[in-house]
Amino acid sequence: MENVEVLAPSPGKHNMENYEETCKNFKWEDVEKVFSWSTTGKVNLAYEAVDRMVDEKGKGDMVALYYCDSKIEEKYTFADMKAYSNKFANVLRKYGIGKGDRVFIFMPRSPKLYFSFLGIVKVGAIAGPLFEAFMEAALKDRLSDSEAVAIVTTPELKGRILKDELPNLKHIFVVGANGDLGEREIDWDAEMAQASDEAELEWVDRETPLFLLYTSGSTGKPKGIIHVHNDMLGYYTTGKYVGDLQEGDMYWCTADPGWVTGVVYGMLAPWLNGCSTILRGGRFNADEWYQTLEKYKVTVWYSAPTAFRLLMAEGEEKIKQYDLSSLRHIMSVGEPLNPEVIRWFMKTLNVRVHDTWFMTETGMQMICNYPCMEIKLGSMGKPVPGVEAAIVDDDGNVLPPLQMGNLAIKKGWPAQMRAVWKNPEKFNEYFKHDPWYISGDSAYMDEDGYFFFQGRVDDVINTAGERVGPFEVESKLIEHPAIAEAGVIGKPDPVRGEIIKAFIALNEGYEWTEELAKEVRDFVKKGLAAHAAPREFEVKDKLPKTRSGKIMRRVLKAWELGLPVGDLSTMED
Ligand code: WT7
Repeated sequence: MENVEVLAPSPGKHNMENYEETCKNFKWEDVEKVFSWSTTGKVNLAYEAVDRMVDEKGKGDMVALYYCDSKIEEKYTFADMKAYSNKFANVLRKYGIGKGDRVFIFMPRSPKLYFSFLGIVKVGAIAGPLFEAFMEAALKDRLSDSEAVAIVTTPELKGRILKDELPNLKHIFVVGANGDLGEREIDWDAEMAQASDEAELEWVDRETPLFLLYTSGSTGKPKGIIHVHNDMLGYYTTGKYVGDLQEGDMYWCTADPGWVTGVVYGMLAPWLNGCSTILRGGRFNADEWYQTLEKYKVTVWYSAPTAFRLLMAEGEEKIKQYDLSSLRHIMSVGEPLNPEVIRWFMKTLNVRVHDTWFMTETGMQMICNYPCMEIKLGSMGKPVPGVEAAIVDDDGNVLPPLQMGNLAIKKGWPAQMRAVWKNPEKFNEYFKHDPWYISGDSAYMDEDGYFFFQGRVDDVINTAGERVGPFEVESKLIEHPAIAEAGVIGKPDPVRGEIIKAFIALNEGYEWTEELAKEVRDFVKKGLAAHAAPREFEVKDKLPKTRSGKIMRRVLKAWELGLPVGDLSTMED
């Protein structure tokens, strides 16, 4: 621990010049004064993020969103964003959709996804962004659990929505339908063309639900995490201090809006700070990553370690072909950031990479590195001003520096999840050690207050920055006729962080072959999502189980890593 490498603060002027000072004087009440709700008592986050730039700041002509993919380039000003989201708000109202209704979005990254999201927020409904890779079963779980009334989707994806099993889902808005509509389907583009671009917003209390994102735990179905309009105090503050975002910044977050990072740091936090964002659609290779950074003169770039490692694998010659001198810093999230990545970007671009830690449940960045602060390589940094973090033992007692334990956050930060949809027990579990929120990650803090990530406490897998619950994958595997038992773990991988490995026992009469492996993999892909399919299988006669029948994943993990299996007292004979 004493050998950690330290990097000097970034040069230049920053929104936060002194971390300790800022923390000492910080009050969330002061942040409220930035927004109009402090005078009206009512709020709508879409207004604060978009309309306010037009109505109060005279910045309607500034570009809010640059969109590009391999074929198209488009741009939309704040006035455009206001108008298009008003239109979609009017479309929703026409179909009787309003406050508290769950409206999902299931489509590839595009400006229309953003208009839809903001329109949903403007009528006070709850937006449910869904990653486009989800397949039938994963979609159905989420739409039925939340009793969604509507979804925005595309002709390519709509077939995965099992309408007959979703009686509450009354309206399916199809983007690019070209008049080709089935039952319950509505032509998104035709409705938008007719709708007025002026709309009365639904002014809500700050505790009103804003969006709902499903996330995986180690057991059970995915949990619907509820966030509220009040979150914006946290989005604004982290955008300001962690992103160091300033008006005029050109900001690119590569996360998909199907995940919390894409929603909060792809659109809301940068707009609340008045900067332009970039959205790149489709898949892109290393040259396209660099072209996008160069062409738009990106100043702040937010991505994930897996992406950085893939770019590093393409070599230094490649990155040096591009002029990326506009970059002030890079941010990273989702998985541990290897010191090697930071060294590589220092060497190739002379730019620091700032690790940031947060979760779907925390709603906003929590532990981060800041431009004004020294970086200790391998550390996630220090808590955001206004946030208190600690390491606690399994009874909730705060541990001294250098001891490993549960990473915990003092409850009461503005973007804290407000509920787990229809599941108060799950919600309470996170807060069982009042006043601490227990994250599920283990970490330690050094004597200077820097936090170091150690791993997940539970069995949740992190593959290429995506969180996969082993239970969901196991459940899907045993639906396949060949598979009797399944235990799923994350296996360390140099590029993806972890890959999904399944230990399986076969039913009588089945033989494990290449073809069967492919069939099983496709079965999981089709049932859940491509990123949830095991990359590796190992066949066993029988899997280690507790007497109550639970698969002992820690034993599987120990086998995999060649480590001692530990206490087996609860294992069946
Ligand atoms: C889990 C949350 C919100 C970011 C996208 C993932 C892991 C997140 C880091 C980091 C090491 C990290 C944790 C966390 N994680 N950031 N900087 N270093 N691990 O959101 O799907 O809710 O996953 O991602 O294990 O608990 P998520």
